[in-house]
Amino acid sequence: MQRILVLHGPNLNALGTREPDVYGRGTLAELDGRLEALAKELGCELESLQTQHEGVLVDALHGAAGRVSGVLLNAAGLTHTSVALRDAVAASRVPVVEVHLSNPAAREEFRRRSLLSGAAVAVVQGFGPDSYLLALRGLLGHLARGVSK
Ligand code: DQA
Repeated sequence: MQRILVLHGPNLNALGTREPDVYGRGTLAELDGRLEALAKELGCELESLQTQHEGVLVDALHGAAGRVSGVLLNAAGLTHTSVALRDAVAASRVPVVEVHLSNPAAREEFRRRSLLSGAAVAVVQGFGPDSYLLALRGLLGHLARGVSK
């Protein structure tokens, strides 16, 4: 059975109360619950981690190979700033899909650049929590096609 790691970056623990006009009123637990239900339906296992810390995300990406088949990564604000995270995505030996609830390309100028996209296999953004669900389907399809990364 495929095992997928879901990484939620800084401030995503506050979903539901954090800027609800942008991110909606659903909580992170609800989002993880919907993902879990879809994973069950699609026959894969999920592991989910939220952290406020860049280094924890870097460690998780380095530890992914051999443990999981792929990663869904919402690096939140670090998307726009972290060369270290970009390097960790590039170094990761499993496919990483970049995910965002909002569409950063349609927001403030400083969000329009992602340092991660060029190292990710795909980007899904702008569909709220559905971005994660679509990304999971896309990642499993990618893995089923047998593309190495
Ligand atoms: C986000 C978009 C980022 O620009 C922002 O810093 C976040 C959340 C999203 O999911 O829409 O924290 O990654």
